[in-house]
Amino acid sequence: MLSGKQVVLGVTGGIAAYKAVELCRLFIKDGATVRVIMTAAAKQFVTPLTFQTVSGNLVYDDLFAGSQRYTVDHVGLAQGANLFLIAPATANCLGKLAAGIADDLLSTTVLAAGCPVLLAPAMNTKMFENSTVQENIDKLTLRGYSFVAPVEGELACGESGGGRLAPLDSIFAAAKSLLLPALELRGVRLLVTAGPTREAIDPVRYLTNHSSGKMGYAIAQAAVEQGAEVTLVSGPVTLPAPAGVRMVRVTTAQEMYAAVLSLYSEIDVVVKAAAVADYRPATVQEAKIKKDGDMALSLVRTPDILAELGKRKQNQVLVGFAAETDNLRENALVKLARKNLELIVANDLTEDGAGFNTDTNVVKFYFKDGQEKQLPRMPKLAVAREIIREIKRIMNIV
Ligand code: CTP
Repeated sequence: MLSGKQVVLGVTGGIAAYKAVELCRLFIKDGATVRVIMTAAAKQFVTPLTFQTVSGNLVYDDLFAGSQRYTVDHVGLAQGANLFLIAPATANCLGKLAAGIADDLLSTTVLAAGCPVLLAPAMNTKMFENSTVQENIDKLTLRGYSFVAPVEGELACGESGGGRLAPLDSIFAAAKSLLLPALELRGVRLLVTAGPTREAIDPVRYLTNHSSGKMGYAIAQAAVEQGAEVTLVSGPVTLPAPAGVRMVRVTTAQEMYAAVLSLYSEIDVVVKAAAVADYRPATVQEAKIKKDGDMALSLVRTPDILAELGKRKQNQVLVGFAAETDNLRENALVKLARKNLELIVANDLTEDGAGFNTDTNVVKFYFKDGQEKQLPRMPKLAVAREIIREIKRIMNIV
C-alpha cells in the first residue's frame, strides 16, 4: 500500500522510544521507505543500530556530520518526505516546534518540511495536562500539524493517567490517512467568503469591523485538504492565500455580492464566514472631508449576500455564521430560517477565545433539521475541520 512513500520518523527522548522501533517496522512491512532521525535524548533509550537494522537505512542524528547521501541532510531529508512523523514527541519537542527553535537535526528538518507533519505525544500525565504543553499543541494544530492524542493507561513513572503513547495501530492509521488521503470532497465545488469588507467614506477613511479572516481561511484549507475545488472570496486581510485555493479578492460588500453571485450557479457549497458590513456611506466623498464641527454620516444598507443566496438556492448547501453578543440561540435560529441555510455556525462574541481576531473559536452548530451541537474552545483550523465534517454529513458523503 505504501510503496513509493517516504516517511521521516523522528524519535525523541522518552521511554516510549522503544515502541517507535515496532512502528518503524509497520511502515517497512507496508512498503514505505523510512528514514529515522533521532535526538540525542532518544539515543539514551534506543540505539541507532536498532533503527538502522529495522529500517534498512542509515539513521540520522547529527546536524553537522553530513551523511554523504544529501548535499545538506536536513534539507534533503525534508524534501524527500511524504510524511514527517514524530513518535514519541516529548514536551520538549512540542515546545521547540511551537517556538520555531531549530537547535538539532530533528527540529531543523521539521522546519524545512513541506509535507504533512504528524505528532504522537507521550509524557507524564501532569506534563501533558500542563497549560504550556496544551497551548503548544493548540498553536501547532492551528499551523496545520496533526496529532494522535495520547491515551490513558499505566505510565513508566508509575502513575496512571493520560499521556501514554497512542496505540501503534492508531498512529499507523493516522499516518496512512495523511499519506493516502481519502479526498472525500473530490469534485465538490466549495466557495468560502472570509474577512471584513471595507466601505469608503472618502479617499482616506472607511467603515469596517474586527474580522481577521482566520476562520474563513481555515475553512478553505480544511476543504482543500479533502480534495474540494475551493474558491476563496476574501475581503482585505493580511493572511497568505492557502495553497491550492482559487482567490478572488474584494473590498466592499457590493463587490463581494457581485463576485459570489456570479459564481453561485457553478458552486455546490457556500460557507459565508465573512463579516460583511451591513451599511455603507450613502455617498463616497471624492475629496478628503475636512473637519468642521460635529458631523453626521448617512448610511444605507448593503445587500445581504447570504439571504440572496438562500432565495436563489437550487441544490446548494448553504452554511452561514452568526456573530452575536446576546440571545445567541434565538438570533442564530432566526438567521438560519430567514437565509434558508442548512447550517449556521454561531459564536458568542462575549466568550473568551471566541470570535474576531482570535486564533481559537467557541461555536455552536444549529442545523436546519433542528439538531444542535456545542463545540468546546478549539483552534480555528480544528473548528473548520468540524464544519467540513458536518457539510459531508449533510451531503451524505461518508
Ligand atoms: N451576511 C451576508 N451579507 C450581509 C450581512 C451578513 O452575507 N450583508 C452573512 C454573513 O456572512 C454571515 C451571516 O450572513 O454568514 C450572518 O451575519 P451576521 O453579521 O451575524 O448577521 P446579519 O444577517 O448581518 O444580522 P445582524 O447584523 O442584524 O445581526
